[in-house]
Amino acid sequence: MENMDNHDIGKLDFPAGFLWGTATSAHQIEGGNTNNDWYHWETDPKRIARLKAEGKNPDEYISGSACDFRHRYREDLKRAAEELHSNAFRFSIEWSRVEPEEGKWNEAEIAYYRDVVKTCREFGIEPVVTLWHWTLPLWAAKKGGWLWQGIMPQWTRFVERMTKELGNEVKFWLTVNEPTIYIGYGYLSGEMPPGFRNPWKAIEAMHALSYAHVAAYDAIHRASPRKDVQVGMTAALQWITPWSHNVINDIAAFIRRFLAARWFFMLAKKKCDFVGVDYYQHFQVRVNPRLPRWGLFRHEPAKRASDLGWALEPEGLYFVCRWVWRYLRKPIIITEYGLADEKDQWRAWYLTEGVKQAARLRKEGVDLRGFLVWSLIDNFEMPPPMSFWPKFGLQTRERIWRPSAKVWAEIAHSNGSSAVL
Ligand code: BGC
Repeated sequence: MENMDNHDIGKLDFPAGFLWGTATSAHQIEGGNTNNDWYHWETDPKRIARLKAEGKNPDEYISGSACDFRHRYREDLKRAAEELHSNAFRFSIEWSRVEPEEGKWNEAEIAYYRDVVKTCREFGIEPVVTLWHWTLPLWAAKKGGWLWQGIMPQWTRFVERMTKELGNEVKFWLTVNEPTIYIGYGYLSGEMPPGFRNPWKAIEAMHALSYAHVAAYDAIHRASPRKDVQVGMTAALQWITPWSHNVINDIAAFIRRFLAARWFFMLAKKKCDFVGVDYYQHFQVRVNPRLPRWGLFRHEPAKRASDLGWALEPEGLYFVCRWVWRYLRKPIIITEYGLADEKDQWRAWYLTEGVKQAARLRKEGVDLRGFLVWSLIDNFEMPPPMSFWPKFGLQTRERIWRPSAKVWAEIAHSNGSSAVL
């Protein structure tokens, strides 16, 4: 394995206009999103009873008022611009807010999103807007969600409407967020809505999502008033290596890589102007039937791990982006990079090393355009454990910056050149 410490990256050079900021999603920060399948799942009486039996406080496991971003967005964006020196911010649109009932639009909620975008612009922030970050309006979920034959026209209509409403001010759109993670937890392990454990349904849903991406890509290009509009999707990419080289582990690593990303890219790659890369962890794969899930999905103990036990290897960011670049040859924005670290033990180091890897990618000619940290604020973690306890924020929900926020602010302020620890 190439070692970052021995790798001379040289001067940390980023072009003017490189995007520095943070990423979020609607259900995780807005609060009050009670009309979607997630809230329904979170508040299921059986789930609450189980949490209580485990001695847990159910309030910690229900999104509820989240970070109240729905009401505090102005203050949050102002602080992101002035104190974090962000020139970009990723957020998502909650479909169930703007179309609470099939075919009925809520104008006040549409106006809210228009104002979020306007406020971004007012503070010199480039909005990066995700159209679907895992939640579905209850009316669509009840009909079968992504497996419902009638969902595509509804989805396309939603995308078109949002493009028309916000399109003047939005250059970067993301269609669907991390389809493989959603399918893994939602259709294979059953730990997230819709809670299936069915490989056939998983394949069907994956195809539906790739189709949804393509339909959204076309709809945005049709409806956007901007000539410079850029449409992409996000892919969660782990850095996957064999635990030790032997034929079986090598094949296992290949299969894991395929399941993690290639699958979706193969389906959707022709229609994207850029790719959003979400990177969090290093996976070492070894096949052993005695290990849970045969070792294929096991997190090996790591030297440096997040509060969720994820192996922290900043250099993995370099490898996954390099792979995307070689495979797709499309501009890349790092749309999520971060860690759950309540004590802020590793974050400054992790961010700084990540930026060095970004500089290394640029130096090698990879068209990397931005770097967004997950997340602006501690929020409701949607993947399991589906709770507030993993702390991904540069600040707490009380809006107190963690010390590492200062490091991120300096990196943004110096256009990357202060990333030296
Ligand atoms: C998701 C976020 C999540 C983050 C950390 C990504 O999988 O897009 O919603 O909070 O990773 O787990």
